[in-house]
Amino acid sequence: MKASTRISQTQQISRIDRRIYGSFIEHMGRAVYEGIYQPNHETSDENGFRQDVLKLVQELSVPIVRYPGGNFLSGYRWEDGIGPKENRPQRLDLAWQSVETNEVGLHEYMHWAQKCGTEVNMAVNLGTRGIDAARNLVEYCNFEGGTYWSDLRKQNGDEKPFAIKTWCLGNEMDGDWQIGHKTAEEYGRLAEETAKAMKWVDDSIELVVCGSSSSTRPTFVDWELTVLDHTYEYVDYLSLHQYYDNKTDNLAEFLAKSEDMDRFIKSVIAICDTMKAKKRSDKTMMLSFDEWNVWYHSNEETAAQKPWTVAPHILEDIYNFEDALLVGSMLITLLKNSDRVKIACLAQLVNVIAPIMTEKNGTAWKQTIFYPYQQASLYGHGQALTTKVDVATYDTNQFKNVPYLDSIAILNDEKNELVIFSVNKHRCEEIVFTVDSDLGLASVIEATEMADYDPKAVNGPNQELVDPRDSLERIVIDGGRVTINTKPLSWNMTRISLN
Ligand code: AHR
Repeated sequence: MKASTRISQTQQISRIDRRIYGSFIEHMGRAVYEGIYQPNHETSDENGFRQDVLKLVQELSVPIVRYPGGNFLSGYRWEDGIGPKENRPQRLDLAWQSVETNEVGLHEYMHWAQKCGTEVNMAVNLGTRGIDAARNLVEYCNFEGGTYWSDLRKQNGDEKPFAIKTWCLGNEMDGDWQIGHKTAEEYGRLAEETAKAMKWVDDSIELVVCGSSSSTRPTFVDWELTVLDHTYEYVDYLSLHQYYDNKTDNLAEFLAKSEDMDRFIKSVIAICDTMKAKKRSDKTMMLSFDEWNVWYHSNEETAAQKPWTVAPHILEDIYNFEDALLVGSMLITLLKNSDRVKIACLAQLVNVIAPIMTEKNGTAWKQTIFYPYQQASLYGHGQALTTKVDVATYDTNQFKNVPYLDSIAILNDEKNELVIFSVNKHRCEEIVFTVDSDLGLASVIEATEMADYDPKAVNGPNQELVDPRDSLERIVIDGGRVTINTKPLSWNMTRISLN
């Protein structure tokens, strides 16, 4: 099968905000305890953080990590996690039926993030709490000094402000599983007043207001319209969350789910622009896709089976090769919409529906989905270019005209490099993908593919068999044309130097 496209510097979608490659750590399951933090582990540093995990997070080059939840957030008191550890309370976490020890709190997490070289996307609890706790937290984190909360930060060991730029106003407030779940009207008003107060403390911060927790929520659209009606002038991003599964074991349909993600994003953009028109506003609302992934291999019941323990094994999905392909396509979809999607968080980062897994008494290892995420995060920087691919399509029960090849081209103008990511969704046919370009193609720097694996193949500790392999011999540059021979069911990355 053949596919073709033409790319040019004049067809720019947008400069990519590096926060599009963000991730997420929630106080749940073994994400924090036995994940990033485990004082008795042989690799742990003097602060109890696992260095094997830190190294893998650094390998991913994660630009921003959302914290501390998730559903956990809606019952969390941030003050429980500051001050001497021996004074910190143990609390019931109602969201995940677990016990939270508060051994890791704000300072510990901020120090870990600094070591990883990542920014923090901090979330404030709008479930059980509100304006006061939120504005105090901004003061604690970002105010220079000379006030109660900023001086308390200093007293707790951090002289300099944390200078956190990106903040979430609650989590999934549209869902009745959320502690303190609200109607759109209730949440809209609270988010509006909280946003005002937080920005009055520090007007340099950026705020993300909660959109729907998935496109299938019955309140989707009405929720966004009501919430934005209240908050449009005070916030900078509207959030989207979406997880996909292959419960019906229909591979073609599963791989088509990136089409649904694209439709969801386009619908949310339309909603934002409707509100922009209604408000006669000059401001364009940007999007934060701050939870996305594949999620279905584990089941949530495991949490309820062993309630009220610290760090239960929950949501520990083991990802297979087909999951990596969909994650690749979802990354391409985010990049295709990078004019509006400025922040996105792969949910989550460690142990809980995550690219990185840990063994309590052993190693940290890479799941299949680690690799497309890593390659995008390392090399997907610069200008996203429009790539309208001419290729055959297929239909499924749910989706029509699904292209067999998904692709995005990125011009890294700092490195003078063109990067092309593509996913071949055909089960048995190679796709010969020709890309014509006026960018001055010189030579291939690197080409890799994830291919030839059983769709159900998985990785494990000391068994990272599903990974990208060199595919240099499958790329041909001839004048202004590069040909990428993509194998059936493959994730491909091609980096080309430019004249
Ligand atoms: O990421 C796991 C959970 O999924 C989060 O806590 C919640 O926000 C979402 O429903």
